[in-house]
Amino acid sequence: MKTHISPDYPQLCQAVAQNVIACVKTKPDALICIAGGDTPLGVFTALVEAQKQGRVDFSRTQFLGLDEWLGLGKADKGSCREMVWHHFFDKLTLREEQICFFDGLTHNPQAECQRVDRYIELHGPIDCIVLGIGMNGHIGFNEPGVSVDNTCHVIDLDAVTQAVSVKYFDTPREVKQGISLGLKTILAAKNIVVMASGEKKAAIVAQTVNHPASRDIPSTLVKTVAQASLYVDKAAASKL
Ligand code: PGA
Repeated sequence: MKTHISPDYPQLCQAVAQNVIACVKTKPDALICIAGGDTPLGVFTALVEAQKQGRVDFSRTQFLGLDEWLGLGKADKGSCREMVWHHFFDKLTLREEQICFFDGLTHNPQAECQRVDRYIELHGPIDCIVLGIGMNGHIGFNEPGVSVDNTCHVIDLDAVTQAVSVKYFDTPREVKQGISLGLKTILAAKNIVVMASGEKKAAIVAQTVNHPASRDIPSTLVKTVAQASLYVDKAAASKL
C-alpha cells in the first residue's frame, strides 16, 4: 500500500483534499464518500476553501455518507450527520439530490440499508472514499471480525468504539449500534484513501501496515486492493 507521510495535520489534510479534487476534476459527477469523525475535519475545511477559490466545482458531484450512530440524527451534536453537514455540506451549498446519507433515526434500519444499497447500485461504484481508522482498526463501522462480503448493514458497536464515542457528544449517549457501508462496497471503490493523524493513532497505523490482512483488524483489509493508499502525518507514522 502506497504511504504518504505529511509533516503535520494541516499538510496531511491538504494532501488528502488534493486527491479528492483530482478525482472530481477527472469526473465532475463523481461519487465521493468522506468519513465523519475528527480526522477528516481539516479535509472538509480544505475542500470548502478550494471551492471558494474556484479550484474545484462540486456542483455535479454526488456525496455518500459512510456511517451513522443508530438512534442519532442531525439535532444530536456529534452524530455523523451533524458533523458532516456542519463542517462540509452546509458550506458547499449542495442540492439535496446530491447527497445520500444514512438516517440514524430510521425505525426500519434494514429498509434504510436497502435504500442506500440501491443508491450505490445506481450511482456506484464509489469513485473516491476517504476513511479514518478507529482505535480498534475499524473503517466505517466495520468492527473487528466483520464479514468482507457485507454491503450496507447494522452492526453492534465494539466496546472500544463505544468508549471512544464519548469524545463526539456533548451529553452522555448510549450508542450500541451503528449503520454503515460494508467492506464489499468500500473495497470496490476506485480510489481508497485511508487517513490517520496524531500520536494516538501511531500503534493502529503500524498494525495496519505490518499485520497481515485480517478481519480482526479491518483497516488491514485495504491492503488487499491495489487502489488504496495510506495518508498519515508524522506523528501517526511514528511507529512505522
Ligand atoms: P476519528 O475516528 O477520526 O474521530 O479518530 C476515526 C474512526 O473511528 O474511524
